[in-house]
Amino acid sequence: MQKPDDAFCNKAEAYEAFDDIPTNPGCNNTIGDVINRRYGRRDVMRGFLGVTATTTLFGSTAMFAAQQARADETSRYKFTEIPGGIDEKHHIADGYNADVLLRWGDPIHADAPQFDPQNQSADSQLKQFGYNNDYVGFVPLNEEATRGLLCVNHEYTNEEVMFPGLGRQDRDGFSGMTRELVDIEKAAHGGTIIEVARDANGKWAPVLDSKYNRRIQPLNTEMTIDGPAAGHDRMKTTADPDGKTIIGTFNNCAGGITPWGTYLMAEENFHGYFWTDNLDADGKPVLPQSHAISHKRYGVPGRWYAWGKFDDRFNIDKEPNEPNRHGWIVEVDPMDPQSLPVKHTALGRFRHEGAESLKAKTGQLVLYSGDDNRFDYVYKYVSNGKIGEDKSANMGLLSDGTLYVAKFNDDATVDWMPLVHGEGPITAANGFDSQADVMIDARIAADLLGATPMDRPEDIQPHQDGRVYVMLTNNTRRKPGDENAANPRADNSFGHIIEISETDGDHTATKSRWNILVTCGDPLIAQVGAQWGPETSEHGWFGSPDNAAIDAEGRLWISTDQGSGWSKTGKSDGLYALETDGASRGSSKLFFRTPIGGELCGPYFTGDQKTLFLAVQHPGTDGTKDFKGFERASTFEDPATRWPDFKDGIPPRPSVLVVTKKDGGKIAS
Ligand code: FEO
Ligand code: CA
Repeated sequence: MQKPDDAFCNKAEAYEAFDDIPTNPGCNNTIGDVINRRYGRRDVMRGFLGVTATTTLFGSTAMFAAQQARADETSRYKFTEIPGGIDEKHHIADGYNADVLLRWGDPIHADAPQFDPQNQSADSQLKQFGYNNDYVGFVPLNEEATRGLLCVNHEYTNEEVMFPGLGRQDRDGFSGMTRELVDIEKAAHGGTIIEVARDANGKWAPVLDSKYNRRIQPLNTEMTIDGPAAGHDRMKTTADPDGKTIIGTFNNCAGGITPWGTYLMAEENFHGYFWTDNLDADGKPVLPQSHAISHKRYGVPGRWYAWGKFDDRFNIDKEPNEPNRHGWIVEVDPMDPQSLPVKHTALGRFRHEGAESLKAKTGQLVLYSGDDNRFDYVYKYVSNGKIGEDKSANMGLLSDGTLYVAKFNDDATVDWMPLVHGEGPITAANGFDSQADVMIDARIAADLLGATPMDRPEDIQPHQDGRVYVMLTNNTRRKPGDENAANPRADNSFGHIIEISETDGDHTATKSRWNILVTCGDPLIAQVGAQWGPETSEHGWFGSPDNAAIDAEGRLWISTDQGSGWSKTGKSDGLYALETDGASRGSSKLFFRTPIGGELCGPYFTGDQKTLFLAVQHPGTDGTKDFKGFERASTFEDPATRWPDFKDGIPPRPSVLVVTKKDGGKIAS
């Protein structure tokens, strides 16, 4: 394992940058690094380029105002764009409220303890809102959708701003970590289901005495495992000799709400939680021979967290099969607080970024999911059966279906190739003895099929009209010569978005077409090679698309996660309205932006288009070394922002915001 570098503000960034990718030649300069050096980071707009190139591309201030007025007129999104930039606060378009709804540590039950950052415990955390909110879904409880269940993933923890007096732990072998702190971390992972309600004044608040409120986490939430891998020898551990039950889920990134109203939690960077004490002279893990091929392909063990030092379950020297039990999609019925969540192995094992699904024209369920790793793949799952009225029957659709992986051909077609044991190269001769093996090693099966290695697939958002939007966030390890039509830029610092058009609007199609909607980054810098629609202003372009949503009017919205790379754009992460049709196609407009160091997740629009839920994840952490006037890594005692409380002694808190229009109307309409 390579040591994280001080250039990164927290371990998530550092480990991501040093992720073990076979094609990685080392640490080359990225385009962004070149740009940073050349233009002195992001004084670009105000400085050198501010008086030259911006005038020709975006026009002078007066021209810009006129252009923006014209854009506001033609845009399908009725709001006035906010300026890009970065500071300690969040910003929303004029005429809207963005109110804090739930913060890390807020009670989710009437009898839960209040947040006390100096005296945290796992018991308290189990009754409080978790850390690093990512996916947000909403399941209405009444016709008017004034009450509903908010389903929120808690992806990971940042111990350096979460715990007093600790600092970053990955640099020195986690010397400050204890079993108590690890248990708090576990209790802060997973997800929260909580009832929220809107009052007569249009204000949303949590309902703390609701019977539905629950936390789902890796400390003590029981789950079952179903699908082809359930009960297989490779799923068995000391704690679960049958291979059919498991405690919890973690690193839940994006997710989805199924057409039948269940909550899907995608398990993403599970590899980072596993430990080994068996290291070679270079400090690299020595894998057990029996598990070496699979664990290597999945990056296990990552050693990002100290969990395996205190819990044998996370130590592959003791439990080499445990990693096989993570990297799946978990389904939870939020309407039944006693129900056991289910890990569905029919959807394949990889670093699932998300799990957005819909009812296809045929009546079948189709679910899209990206594998968020450099050079990994885009998948979709098609159920065998059709969606009906019976919820429990519908839940069976995620146990019985076909997983496909995408090959993006140069002729703008896409082949969806099935991962089925016995078909093509997926045979015993190639190491697959059963469909269980195929699902556990979905990545290796996809390798054999010749799937297209992508620039880090993040959220994939299907549209009911037959199109599908694939967020490819960035990939600075793609070398010149490794480009392909669907990943056209080497050293891709800013990412792109692919639009798939499923044949005849049928999401079950196995041969469809694709094109690129936008290539991201600054359109002023030719070297970047960005392409945007004509009405994109200097504030509207972005880098590193991450999550996506389709609103009630069928329009696309994109949220970004640049990590420490925000200094390559000079903008914090935000929510952008992105046109998909007509002459404005590819034009983007900034609606909301996060405080320094945060990424933006969610977003989720209610069916009446009057409420938007946004999740601000890890405020105050990413890239604070480039934050002018701060220029250091954040700690609990010394964070770059104390958003959203701004109170001495209170650290920054990941929070879900609720956005409404001040006049109570529909958002952006
Ligand atoms: Fe958790 Fe791929 O972002
Ligand atoms: Ca994400």
